[in-house]
Amino acid sequence: PFGWYAEMREERPVHYDEQRETWDVFRYDDVNRVLKDHVSFTAKRSAEDGEPSSGADEGMPMLQTMITTDPPEHTRLRGFVDERFQPGSIREYRPQVERVTEAVLDDLEGRGQFDFVDEVAISLPVTVIAELLGIPAERRDQFKAWSDALVARPEDDSQEERQRVQDARQQAQREMGRYFGSLLQEREGGTADDLITLAANSALNRGEQIGFCMLLLLAGNITTTNLLTNAIWTFEEEGLTDAVRQGAVDLEAAIEETLRYRSPIQSLKRIALEDVELRGRQIQAGDVLTVWLGAANRDPARFDAPEEFRPERQPNRHIAFGTGVHFCLGAHLARMEAAVALNGFLERFDRLDADLWNCQPLNGLYGLESLPCDVS
Ligand code: HEM
Repeated sequence: PFGWYAEMREERPVHYDEQRETWDVFRYDDVNRVLKDHVSFTAKRSAEDGEPSSGADEGMPMLQTMITTDPPEHTRLRGFVDERFQPGSIREYRPQVERVTEAVLDDLEGRGQFDFVDEVAISLPVTVIAELLGIPAERRDQFKAWSDALVARPEDDSQEERQRVQDARQQAQREMGRYFGSLLQEREGGTADDLITLAANSALNRGEQIGFCMLLLLAGNITTTNLLTNAIWTFEEEGLTDAVRQGAVDLEAAIEETLRYRSPIQSLKRIALEDVELRGRQIQAGDVLTVWLGAANRDPARFDAPEEFRPERQPNRHIAFGTGVHFCLGAHLARMEAAVALNGFLERFDRLDADLWNCQPLNGLYGLESLPCDVS
């Protein structure tokens, strides 16, 4: 998409697409403004009220969560958990994430070839979330199966296949919702420090608590999967894998640059609540906007040589995690997970040969469907 972004940023930075019935916004400053101005631009799915309109089709639960609400409702739905995702709290999870990483890597011992996406990048985030939520060990396999169903994509374009995937997703959603409901009930009044207990003891109603648990999976899993994959993909493509392994290139800086250069979420939606002028264009109340994070993150007005992968970039103020009130709740967790996982992976395998010709690009979100690796 990057060629298209460059052209649009330059020629039609705020453009109405008749076919998709949306404004497309490409420049960093404009994307930033739209996301920061939650009074003019709502994160709700429809301009009329708080009900997500077509949630079920998009795999989102039909439950009210922070991601599709505006302040003050948003503040109520996010406030109870914000503290737990601050850098100080996230640091405490590090040993847990290290343990999960080691277990995932142990399973790969003796396997000369494997798909990095399936074996590492998908497993790790799901397992980490399961730990933070406090899913009991005996339900982990079931939990993983539900999570996979939530994000599954059709294997071909046929109507039957699409229907099958959608039915499986809705079923997983219902079963998981029921399961979260029972755990929340069990843990109400408890003192354990898992996130389900935290939610159970919050002022949110039960439906909102369930919505919160589901949101963590929906918002946190594929995104982190894609960050891990995009990092290995880019390090290999740029010939930087050894430099990162040896510390000549700082891993955390390389992760930030991966977020900018190959942002796992390329675009976000908003709806205008009032008439607004944006870069000389008249946006009307009720209009839909698509803001392109991926285009903003390569805006030459903001980044020198934006089309180049430069881990030494300083500062690197990308907006891969969004900005404003909806700034990613899991940003610090995702960064820490990526640092631990990539460090562990590169240390464990001192030779890595990723088969970039066989990579399958992914539609919608930005990542790869598979990344075959040979470590033998
Ligand atoms: C929100 C990206 C990982 C939980 C967001 C938003 C972005 C984003 C762009 C803003 C959405 C909007 O403004 O409409 C990413 C990326 C990730 C990642 C690129 C990984 C590299 C995670 C993880 C979690 C998480 C690991 C949880 C464990 C959330 C939640 C929200 C959110 C709950 C909604 C926040 C709100 O509405 O206030 N994320 N995310 N994310 N993310 Fe992430």
